[in-house]
Amino acid sequence: MSAAAPAPATDPVRPPSGGYAALHARSIADPRGFWGEAAEAIDWMEPPRRVFDPEAGVYGRWFAGGVTNVCHNAVDRHVAAGRGAQAAILYDSPVSGTKRAITYADLQTEVATLAGVLRAMGVEAGDRVVIYMPMIPEAVFAMLACARIGAVHSVVFGGFAAAELASRIDDAQPKIVLSASCGIEPSRIVHYKPLLDLALTIATHKPAACLIFQRPQVEASLVPGRDQDWATRRAEALASGVSAACAPVAATDPLYILYTSGTTGKPKGVVRDTGGYMVALRWSMDGLYGVAPGEVFWSASDIGWVVGHSYIVYAPLLTGCTTVLYEGKPVGTPDAGAFWRVIEEYKVAALFTAPTALRAIKKEDPEGLLMKDYDRSSLRTLFLAGERADPDTVEWAKAKLGVPVVDHWWQTETGWAIAGNPVGIEPLEVKVGSTGVPMPGYQVDILDEGGHPVAANRMGSIAIKLPLPPGCLPTLWRQDERFRESYLIDYPGYYKTADAGFCDDDGQLFIMGRTDDIINVAGHRLSTGGMEEVLAAHPDVAECAVIGIHDELKGEVPCGFLVLKSGVTRSPAQIETEIVALVRERIGPVAAFRLAITVNRLPKTRSGKILRGTMKKIADAQSWNMPATIDDPATLDEIAAVLSARGLAKVSAA
Ligand code: COA
Ligand code: AMP
Repeated sequence: MSAAAPAPATDPVRPPSGGYAALHARSIADPRGFWGEAAEAIDWMEPPRRVFDPEAGVYGRWFAGGVTNVCHNAVDRHVAAGRGAQAAILYDSPVSGTKRAITYADLQTEVATLAGVLRAMGVEAGDRVVIYMPMIPEAVFAMLACARIGAVHSVVFGGFAAAELASRIDDAQPKIVLSASCGIEPSRIVHYKPLLDLALTIATHKPAACLIFQRPQVEASLVPGRDQDWATRRAEALASGVSAACAPVAATDPLYILYTSGTTGKPKGVVRDTGGYMVALRWSMDGLYGVAPGEVFWSASDIGWVVGHSYIVYAPLLTGCTTVLYEGKPVGTPDAGAFWRVIEEYKVAALFTAPTALRAIKKEDPEGLLMKDYDRSSLRTLFLAGERADPDTVEWAKAKLGVPVVDHWWQTETGWAIAGNPVGIEPLEVKVGSTGVPMPGYQVDILDEGGHPVAANRMGSIAIKLPLPPGCLPTLWRQDERFRESYLIDYPGYYKTADAGFCDDDGQLFIMGRTDDIINVAGHRLSTGGMEEVLAAHPDVAECAVIGIHDELKGEVPCGFLVLKSGVTRSPAQIETEIVALVRERIGPVAAFRLAITVNRLPKTRSGKILRGTMKKIADAQSWNMPATIDDPATLDEIAAVLSARGLAKVSAA
């Protein structure tokens, strides 16, 4: 292990050698050796006592005994090493017409100052801080300021409704909330403050204070005694020299909690640790993304999602790269050339986005004419993740952009890619439809229903042998038992990914879909179970089912089926409109729930299980077989008829 701060003069980048197969084999045979070496790229205040402690935590803990600080590694060490004048963040916001370059030296000042303000507001190491903010630099300062003082941040995506924010506040129990007056969507201003106020009325937990960043577009009203003005506190702190140094944080302490959809309405609080996360992310920038310190990395995601945490904020900054913070859309801000403009303007070396963004661009500019207006010669690789990348879109992007298009597979839980194409080590053949090969430390098996590995090319449940590699979740926030039940119990010795797929003869993985009720809408992960809870709460609804149906742009969109209570006299159309509004109000616009359909009854098995899988096949116009256990076969015909009346179902039973 390298010594503690002060930081080394150069970034210890060690080009991986020996090819992918040898490297992966070593990571499995000698995980301690492999990750112990990778940990040398991180500054430690106290080196870990053990690279892996199998006795600690639910399934073991990485870098036990190590003491470090994420903010030091992401900011201060680079300034000390001479990167102070390099841009750390390039903020580009077509929705507000703003651009701003923030150097590593600026970042250090901003983050140390905000950390000082947080301390002065009573935030201590281990306290939680909820961050409900749009894609502005202050949101990144907020994350890093928490890391600096050892507080645990929990960022909530802006497209969620007040009730979702409230449930996260109740679970995380933050000491304070950091927010802004508004977010900006192309079609409207999102007034964050009223949403926050409502969430704080709904939540049982009451944070001591809120720090509000006023954006010029909207002036939010502040609640006296609770809300404080960000700019005022910042100015006071700068004037009086208030700032905070990087606190020593145990490698096994949480850096953040990120809530993600579970199989019920109650989201899962994925915990990310400090040491393992840094080691894995730093390795991935060399090995998987092939991006070096000083280069520009752009993840066109949102800091509210895991991809934003890992690849807008932490991995590029830990590596000494320049990260692009883009507050805009792939289309409409102002046009489908926006991504290519950003690539030219900032000389982006690698772009990471969701397939849905490319589908949106392809729809508007199928010939890629707008690409020709921009110099994209800096771009070496396009990385895709978040949802299944359809081969048409991958082929289109490859042909139009002329760079490798690498699909890679991830989950919020893992924090970084489970499988991908290790372009920094040895670019492998890109097989369209495949998400590549397992990354170091991931031993992936495809299991049958009995939990036995199946042969190559056979479909099954995808599971990862324990222990999970560094960077992955050690548990759920204050819910070890839920963690075990959700992920570890079904296949003893494994982590259940809840994804299904297969592995081909070359060891490349193909992810075909979820085995639970999670759907992916425009790269956003949502629970249909959570939506069903909202539908069922409507006073006129007797029964309901929500499924994800195929959508050309968003991959999937939710579709809700309602059975009304007997005696309801109001029109189904009126109730359907109310249901659509209710999902928007309770879950948020991000759910993109626009389709509610009233039916007389739902298709079920004789034991009463709703046949959601078959309903999905009907809606997606795939061939389907009549389930042997169906109670009444006519119910499926009824579903097909209702869907076809709405122009959705076209294929009948095989
Ligand atoms: N704050 C508030 N509202 C938000 C929001 C945010 N941060 N992000 C999205 N929304 C709203 C949108 O305004 C929209 O509201 P509307 O119903 O009033 O129109 C709704 O949520 C659905 O948004 P979205 O799914 O993004 O659809 P869209 O039609 O606005 O845009 C795409 C379509 C494809 C351009 C867009 O989904 C996209 O860029 N997706 C990429 C996703 C991504 O990067 N995922 C991260 C995983 S890598
Ligand atoms: P999230 O937790 O939001 O990152 O969503 C994780 C889920 O998205 C995974 O379990 C998969 O179902 C899906 N997913 C992510 N990346 C891919 C990919 N490259 N191909 C197919 N599905 C993916």
